[in-house]
Amino acid sequence: MSRQAYRAALLHMLDDPSRAPAGEASSYHPDGLLVVEDGHVAAFGAYADLAQGLAGGTEVIELPGRLITPGFVDAHVHYPQVDVMAAWGTQLLDWLHTHTFPAEQAFADRAHADATAAFFLDQLLANGTTSALVFCTVHKGSVDALFEAALARDMRLVAGKVLMDRAAPAGLTDTVESGRADTEALIRVWRGRGRLGYAVTLRFAVTSTDTQLAMAGEVAAAHPDVLVQTHMSENLDEIAEVARLFPDARDYLDVYDRFGLVGPRSVFAHCVHSTDDALTRLARAGASAAFCPSSNLLLGSGLFSLKQACACGMNTALGTDVGGGGSFSLLHMMGEAYKVGQLRGDNLDPLHAFYLATLAGAKALHIDDKVGNLVPGKEADFLVLDLAATPLLARRTAKAKTLAETLFVLSILADDRAVERTYLAGRLAHRRDGA
Ligand code: GUN
Ligand code: ZN
Repeated sequence: MSRQAYRAALLHMLDDPSRAPAGEASSYHPDGLLVVEDGHVAAFGAYADLAQGLAGGTEVIELPGRLITPGFVDAHVHYPQVDVMAAWGTQLLDWLHTHTFPAEQAFADRAHADATAAFFLDQLLANGTTSALVFCTVHKGSVDALFEAALARDMRLVAGKVLMDRAAPAGLTDTVESGRADTEALIRVWRGRGRLGYAVTLRFAVTSTDTQLAMAGEVAAAHPDVLVQTHMSENLDEIAEVARLFPDARDYLDVYDRFGLVGPRSVFAHCVHSTDDALTRLARAGASAAFCPSSNLLLGSGLFSLKQACACGMNTALGTDVGGGGSFSLLHMMGEAYKVGQLRGDNLDPLHAFYLATLAGAKALHIDDKVGNLVPGKEADFLVLDLAATPLLARRTAKAKTLAETLFVLSILADDRAVERTYLAGRLAHRRDGA
């Protein structure tokens, strides 16, 4: 058996702080000890309580001035869009045609997919993201490339091949039958390997015919362990186009609902312009939303209301939406989510933001029995955050009087330099240069 212990400040979430009684949602130990055995958490608590009981010979790694947290979960990200990050001057529909579709066409080339998948996963780890729900491209090989790279790193990742049988350039569309065959083959090959999961992945209602949407619903129903992921109600022109394409649908959500695509394992990216009625129906179905504040600001999509989503009872997680989003950092997303709240007159509590970036994401991906916090028995996916990673961070965190203030400072001032180490199942998977 392998056993390591890490002494640092420890923080994880046990529940949604907007719903749980005060003080019960999080667990924080300013001088804590995390014990890892064979890749799983064996103990999480105060150093004073745990040090005595440590098995003889256990190495204790001392990490003063550091904060250990669970790995972040990115609930919505596109690995083939690394090269369209920071595209200037367009909103969603133009952005797709001008920047994104040309970039995704390059993934017909397996070597390009392999190289980008490796770069992408290393960016996730450098930013402290240990799990993600990922869009690949329409090409089956793009999924093999990502899953092979994730398997080699032993990451807990969920991903899928994009289904798209209309309104996209030649070379970037499939058909109902090829989409079904590729999806079924990928599920067959990848299900249960390593820490991987599959998501039936529809780009959005604009790029799939009724027949393809129905096929996706059938495939999801035939494989109850897979997720469903797509985009919804992100941009006003997109919503108008969906209304034009599906004149009989009650609203955007109804397009997905009528094809059996709305259930507890469905994750809808954006939901920026969703009504209370749609959010309540999503919540009743047990579906989750991925709030992507950086992308929503950069693409001018709109201001998601977390308050509205919470009031409707919907599980909401955070997504970078790279390449619409401008960063891989979930710390940065916590800060962007706060800024969106400011523009709506809502103050996002820093612990709530941290919940969105960890346990809420794990719940959305249905992996919260394995990751999302550091409760004993879970897989030891965690980070070591350096509160003094830069002179400014050192100066500002030293002045922070509460945990909430420290977290907020990190969300506004930190980036991947603050992620000193990232561990996957107890194994060091990333170490910041010079750390
Ligand atoms: N809607 C449909 N496709 C996409 C995409 O690739 N990115 C974003 N942000 N929205 C989409
Ligand atoms: Zn997206």
